Amino acid sequence: MIKQAIIPLAGLGTRLLPLTSVFPKELLPINGKPGIEYILDECIEAGVEEIIFIISKKKEMIRRYFNNDTFYKLIIKKKKDPRIIKEYKKILFFKKKIKFVYQNKPMGTGDAVLKTKKFIKNNYFLMLLPDDLIIKKNCSKEMIKIHKKFKGSVMASMKVEKNNVDRWGIYAIAKNLDKLNFKIADVIEKPNTKDAPSNNAIIGRYILPKKIFHYLKNQKKGKGNEIHITDAIRRMILDQNLFIGHKFKGNYLDCGSMNGYINSGIEISKL
Ligand code: G1P
Repeated sequence: MIKQAIIPLAGLGTRLLPLTSVFPKELLPINGKPGIEYILDECIEAGVEEIIFIISKKKEMIRRYFNNDTFYKLIIKKKKDPRIIKEYKKILFFKKKIKFVYQNKPMGTGDAVLKTKKFIKNNYFLMLLPDDLIIKKNCSKEMIKIHKKFKGSVMASMKVEKNNVDRWGIYAIAKNLDKLNFKIADVIEKPNTKDAPSNNAIIGRYILPKKIFHYLKNQKKGKGNEIHITDAIRRMILDQNLFIGHKFKGNYLDCGSMNGYINSGIEISKL
């Protein structure tokens, strides 16, 4: 059962400066709604009951966004505006499901995952990276089905341009499980074009096993001097753990870069 999700939110968002100089990128509106709410909607619709936010002191604003009861109560008492009441109810609904943990030094996604160790109850959990929006089809929901069928870890994936592989975790296929799912033979974090085993990239949705904490505890720093989840996954694959690349059906939107962020608003407004 996948009942818990984790969302790393401690990243600095430098690709979106100056918008992120004082404001967390995950609260920036995309077609009138903070980006993080799309991610929350996706995992709640997929059956997740608890969501762990990994934030930093610099991103306290995210915590305040979901914990602003006194403010809402006062406004609602004064105005009794049905729209505000509805919005507050939504915020309360999210708030009940969210826990916060801290990663004050941005040491990489692997380090962020490790911070959630003591909260994870079941053998598998979901991780969503908030820069990656997937629209038109609930990717997390599909991945949970794949996980149940094949009893392994699953990562969302898509093909990327060959000259752009150094932006992604790239994997090699061991064999096809079916049309959309592949057993992964190896994975490399942001390889050069010449070292890339393919152009199959990992996108920010992962069903990870609890066992990964054991690998993360002694994971050495990799690319950019950060602790990467990809490097821990690689060691798990070498130890014969099943990791599946799932070619998702929805449309991918990169809201972590300026052009992608602008485009995300346009694409979502067309839905
Ligand atoms: C992270 C992962 C990378 C993955 C990407 C998906 O990179 O390290 O393997 O392909 O997310 O968005 P980041 O976007 O944090 O640089």
